[in-house]
Amino acid sequence: MTTPANLRDDPGVIAPLLLAWYDRHARDLPWRAPPGTPAMDPYRVWLSEIMLQQTTVAAVRSYFDRFTALWPDVQALAAAPEAQVMAEWAGLGYYARARNLIACAREVVATGFPDTREGLARLPGIGPYTSAAIAAIAFDRAETVVDGNVERVVARLFSVDTPLPAAKRELTALAATLTPAQRPGDFAQAMMDLGATICTPRSPACGICPLIEQCAARAQGIAADLPRRAPKPAKPVRHGVVWVASSPQAVLVERRPASGLLGGTLGFPTTGWDGSDLPAPFAADWQDGGEVRHVFTHFDLRLRILTAPLPDGRGTPRRDFDPQALPGLMRKVWALAGGGTGRDGRLPNTPPGKY
Ligand code: ADE
Repeated sequence: MTTPANLRDDPGVIAPLLLAWYDRHARDLPWRAPPGTPAMDPYRVWLSEIMLQQTTVAAVRSYFDRFTALWPDVQALAAAPEAQVMAEWAGLGYYARARNLIACAREVVATGFPDTREGLARLPGIGPYTSAAIAAIAFDRAETVVDGNVERVVARLFSVDTPLPAAKRELTALAATLTPAQRPGDFAQAMMDLGATICTPRSPACGICPLIEQCAARAQGIAADLPRRAPKPAKPVRHGVVWVASSPQAVLVERRPASGLLGGTLGFPTTGWDGSDLPAPFAADWQDGGEVRHVFTHFDLRLRILTAPLPDGRGTPRRDFDPQALPGLMRKVWALAGGGTGRDGRLPNTPPGKY
């Protein structure tokens, strides 16, 4: 039997154990082929991997189902109106993904799906992680796929003490030693599933782990302490103003510029979020509607809501205004301004997960 002490010398023991576990315990996910069967079509694998960037499986499921019902193949998605794709993406966050999704679909229709990591990485919105994931899962390439779950599993298996993010390179190199030539896509997803269901951040379920005997951190009694992390610097707070103007007939919304945060999404007019000022969209006796707080990856946002009646003849007619087509931040603004239900800033249909 392999003991934790020599896993670095014999990393090949991991894949058969993990794949045998995956054959019995793989999560049933709509973008996934059952273990050991041919892969889903690349369109579904690609779409799911883009949606899963920075977003939880729980949040992605319903979006994936809806997108594939509306657009069953890449040709259909490429032909879709951009505004409809943005509206369907609303609530999933990181809106550059939706813009890149459309650009990528159009490129793939013109040139076909590349079937290597390198080729995939040249497409819009596909970085090193996603290209490796699609190459492994859709095309059976022996690529190593390292997300946060996999980093944790590897840090524990090899008892890597270096804190993240400095440990990334070392963890990626160690993960590569585990990747098998056979079933690399199943292996990648098995690592993700192990990290998501057993080798969890807190209180890992080592008692039912298929790799318990190979795990160096477990042998040392420090599994739950790994991976170590360097303390995160405090997030800056940014401030701005958002204007919510509505009448029984209409609501004032505008599409944000294509680049930048929430680029290309619909929302209420705002100042910049970096202290830059903009005049109110029209002169009015603007009333204080409270403050909305929103968490972005690199900063926390506080927007002061100002409300006013919308003058006749302006804005988007109510029948064309769907709060569900707004990104999460703007749904919260709408709810707090009294436009929707839920004064807690959370509309009933707002999916969980980060925005
Ligand atoms: N996270 C990213 N890609 C995933 C996948 N294919 N299955 C489960 N979780 C994931």
